[in-house]
Amino acid sequence: MNKDIERIIFSEEDLKKAVAELGKRISADYAGKDPLLVGILKGSVTFLTDLMRSLDCGCSIDFMVAKSYGNSTVSSGNVKILKDLDTDVTGRDVIIVEDILDTARTLTAVKKYLQSKAPASVKICALLDKVTAEKAGDAKADYKCFDVGNEFVVGYGLDYAEHYRELPYIGVLKPEVYSK
Ligand code: IMP
Ligand code: MG
Repeated sequence: MNKDIERIIFSEEDLKKAVAELGKRISADYAGKDPLLVGILKGSVTFLTDLMRSLDCGCSIDFMVAKSYGNSTVSSGNVKILKDLDTDVTGRDVIIVEDILDTARTLTAVKKYLQSKAPASVKICALLDKVTAEKAGDAKADYKCFDVGNEFVVGYGLDYAEHYRELPYIGVLKPEVYSK
C-alpha cells in the first residue's frame, strides 16, 4: 500500500465488481440506444475506461473540462467550460461520467449546459457519492457505485494535488499529507 494512504476503502476487486454490475444495469437501460459517455477530466478517466469495457450496448465517448465558481448556487450558471465536447449531442442519450459527486456544483452546471443542447436525455453516473457533503447543486447520481462519508479519498483516478490517481484502489489519505 502507498505510504500516504491511511486505509483502503475500496479494493481493486471491489471496484472491478461494482463497475461490472453498473455496466450491466446501464447496458440494459440503454439497449439499442448508443449512449454518449461524457467523462469529466481528469478524475473520471479510470472509471470511464473500465465502465465502457463493461457495456455491451455499445457507446461513444467524449470529454469535458469544466470549472465552477461561486459558493451559493449554480442556478446562475457560473461554470466555465475549459474544454468542450467535439461531439454534437443533439438527440443523443448522454451519460455524464464523474469520479465523485461532492457538493454537486460542477455537475449541476454541466448538466444544465448539456441540456441546453437538445440531447434526447442526460443522466449522471458517478463512481462515488459523498452523501454527507453539503450540496450546492441539485444534480443527483442516476447511477453510482458507492457512497462515501466526509473523508478525502484518492486513487482510481481521484487525486490530491494531481497525485495518487494511479493507485488501483481507493483509499483515505493520511491527514498529515495535506497539513504538510
Ligand atoms: P463538486 O461536486 O462540484 O463539489 O466537485 C466534485 C469534484 O471535487 C470531483 O470531481 C473531484 O475532482 C473533487 N473532489 C471532491 N471530493 C474529493 C475527494 O474526496 N477526493 C478527490 N477529489 C475530490
Ligand atoms: Mg474531478
